[in-house]
Formats: sequence, structure tokens, C-alpha cells
Amino acid sequence: MVPELSVNAQDGAVPDSLVVVSNREPYSHERDDDGKIRVQSAAGGLTSALDPVMQSRGGTWVAWGSGDADMAVAEEGMIEVPPSAPTYDLKRVPLSDAAVQGYYYGYANQVLWPLCHEDTGRMWAEPAYWDQYRAVNEQFAEAVDTVADAGQPVWFQDYHLALAPRAVRERRPDATLLQFWHIPWPAPSVFRHCPHSDVLLDGLLACDVIGFHTAAYAEQFLHCVDRAFPAATIDTDSGTVVRGGDRTRVVANPLGIDVEAVRDRARTADVASIRDTVLGGSRSDPSIRLALGVERLDYSKGIPERIEALAHLWERRPDLRGAFTYVQKASRTREGIAAYRRYRADVVDAIERVNDRFGTGDWQPIVYTEANLDNETLAGLYRAADVAVVTPHRDGMNLVAHEYPAACVDGDGSLVLSELAGAATHLDGTLTVNPHDINAIADAIERALELGEAETSDRLTRLKHSVEALDSSQWVARQFSAGQSL
Ligand code: F6P
Repeated sequence: MVPELSVNAQDGAVPDSLVVVSNREPYSHERDDDGKIRVQSAAGGLTSALDPVMQSRGGTWVAWGSGDADMAVAEEGMIEVPPSAPTYDLKRVPLSDAAVQGYYYGYANQVLWPLCHEDTGRMWAEPAYWDQYRAVNEQFAEAVDTVADAGQPVWFQDYHLALAPRAVRERRPDATLLQFWHIPWPAPSVFRHCPHSDVLLDGLLACDVIGFHTAAYAEQFLHCVDRAFPAATIDTDSGTVVRGGDRTRVVANPLGIDVEAVRDRARTADVASIRDTVLGGSRSDPSIRLALGVERLDYSKGIPERIEALAHLWERRPDLRGAFTYVQKASRTREGIAAYRRYRADVVDAIERVNDRFGTGDWQPIVYTEANLDNETLAGLYRAADVAVVTPHRDGMNLVAHEYPAACVDGDGSLVLSELAGAATHLDGTLTVNPHDINAIADAIERALELGEAETSDRLTRLKHSVEALDSSQWVARQFSAGQSL
């Protein structure tokens, strides 16, 4: 069994300066309708874990320059960030429209995303997608080569960049290269659906360290390597692969959240007014309990099953009609792909049907919002919710499952969690469900609403402890310390 890295790593393992490489950039420049340029900082786990480290250590972050004014403000793609008080460099890689279509909407999100989420029926491996994925990974490698100083470790992030490590290794044989794979890694029987599986593995094995959220993903990766390259020497106990001139350590290094930041935002949130704004004044009767779901409109998130489960619950428990409202906060995503557009339409239709069926003059069963909520509002919404429902079919980790308990600063709140999210491996105190089991989801929501005070508090205490143990502050140090023990 691949060991999980010890929770407390040495800060000394983190280099004084590093190069981070990711698809998304931490700061983008966008042009408003009136022509003014404004800066946007990225949300999400990756940026909130890595931006503070880059700010304290310095170095260069290489990423796709996706903002429409990105190149206008960056000389040869280079700009110092954060824009308000610069501490490190951002190197923006400009991508053509064809590259974005083939690499991002194509290979990354119509081949690797469904493959790793074990949803191969959605894979579409158009040959041009692979060509663009290879070309863009080369482009990233070229950019790394122009900015990395000798001795600066290079840390690649996620499934967009599986080939870039090999391309950098060819240019820099002695460089220290790392990768963190933020999404699940599939079983070998699924991975072989990919027509380019061996090339992808070869690209990744150019790294000294590869991190995954769970030991199970790391182990599946090793099984895939074993099947593809029988001549490789694999030690599962230490997670080490030796193949040709490459020696790679494969580790489980779960990424959590900045717990204190979420807790602070929840503490200062004006919960009553956030509840009013999100629910709409007339529907925000404070005696109505709230269940909450927060996700991108991605087909891996299990939203339709959850809506069906809610319908079952209101059907079999008429007394719960008017007693609780489910709030779905949804973000539109990857709409260049038809499957994502269809998914959004299906979710909206399903919610409308449930609201038509059960709604009354003064109670709306499901409140759906695509509003762009800032972090403070989101923390207030978590705090207002009695139950969070996180039921993805599969998910690398799922940080909503970490944020919700951290934001429950009043000591109440229950988490219904899919057993197939990476978070289920790490969080204690959840009400765990199979995300395809509609009855089980309905039962779990019902149970969460009816748990006694003592059990709610006990579960929440355990949840908070597990979330604190994975605080993101240690994640970077853990990844680098794995490299030291090679
Ligand atoms: O979970 C994987 C991931 O790539 C995250 O790193 C990112 O926050 C999320 O998906 C959003 O995806 P995209 O960059 O395609 O909008």
C-alpha cells in the first residue's frame, strides 16, 4: 500500500524559489465593456494553496494567459504579481484559438477528464485534440525553459500537463521536477481506454515526485505503470518506480483548505442578510431549514441524482414540505463542450419540475443560483446551511466538503458525502452515501435533518478535526519532502 505522507512536513523542504506550472493563472487581466482593464484573482484550491507559497518564496508561475487583456499588460508575457504588491513573476503562455479548442476543450476535458472520472462513454479522442495537447505541452516546456534558473525545482499541476515534464527533462536532464494530479486516477482497466496511455505515463514518469490526493489513486497509477512498462521496477511500499534513467516517487499528499481563513470569513459573515439575498426576502422565513449544494455544473458532480432524491424525500415525507429548502449554488463551466451545456439544461429542467410539483405560494423547494458569490458570502451561506450535500460520482478530493465544516462556527451542521469523493477517504463524521443510490441520498438528507444535537455536534467535531489535519499550509512542504527522501 502506498503510504500517505506524514501530516507534518518540514517547512525547510520547500525551496527558496520555485517554478509552478498550471493551466489556470493565479491572476488574469480582463477588459471591461468600457475598455478599462481589471485584474481578477483565481478562486479554487490550487491557487489558494500555491499563491501564498509563491508570495513568500518567490519564483515564476507559468500558466495559460487566458484573460483578454493579459498580453497587453505583460511584456513578452511576463508580469509581476500580485498586482497590488508584487512578489513573484507570472509568465503567461499565449494560446491560439485552435490550441484552446484542441488542448483545453478537447484533450484535457473530453479525453482525460472523463477518463480519470471513469466515465469513458463521454470520451471523444479526436486526433486533432491529441496533436494540440502535445503541441501546447511543448509550448509550456519551452516557456519553463526560458524562465527556470538552474537548480530551481519545477512543479507541474494537473491533467493539462502530463507531457510537459518529459519535454522539460529532455531540455534539463538534472532538473528537479514534480507533478500533482488534482483529479482521480482511474483503474488500469479504465486507463487502457485511452489511445495514448503509454505516452502519458512516460511523460509523467519524467518527474521525481508525483502526488495524488489518496493512496488509492497513487496505487492505481502504479498498477497502470506496471501494466504498460513490465520492465520497470516498482516498489509499492515506498511508492517508487525505476524505469530507464528515471526514478520517481509516487505519493499520497491530500490537499485541504486554509481552515483559519474560511473560519474567519464565516465568523464575520452577516448570515441573516446573506440568507435573505440568496433566498429572496419573501422566501427566507428563518424557521425553514436549509440544505446546500455548491458546485461547477460538471457531469461528475451528481446533481440530477440529488434532485431526484429530494423529490423522493418530499414525496414520502409531506411533513417536510415547507420545512426545508435546498439551495443549489451552481457555476457555469467548460461551455465550449456540448455535454456541459446539456448538463446545465438538464439540471435547470429537473429543478423546475420539482418546484412545480411541490412548491406552494409561500415555499419554494429548490432555490437555484448561478450568481457569482464572493468567498465571504459563500462562507455565510455555509454557516446558514443545516446540511451540505456533496455527492459527486467521483472527485479527486472536493474542497467544498472541507470548507463546509470549517465554516460551521455555530457548532451545528451535517455533511452528506459521496463515498467516491477523495474527501471520503480523509473526513470522519460524514453521512456517507453511494452517489448513484437515490434512496440512500434521500435517507441521508432526512437523517441529517433529524439528527439530535449531541450526534450533530459529535460528528461536526470529528469533521473539523479531520479538515484541520489537512490544512493546506503543509501540502507544499509535504510534496517537496517526498522528493528529499528519493
Ligand atoms: O478539479 C480540477 C480542476 O482543474 C481544478 O484545478 C479547477 O479548479 C477546476 O477543475 C476548474 O476547471 P477549469 O479550469 O476547467 O475551469
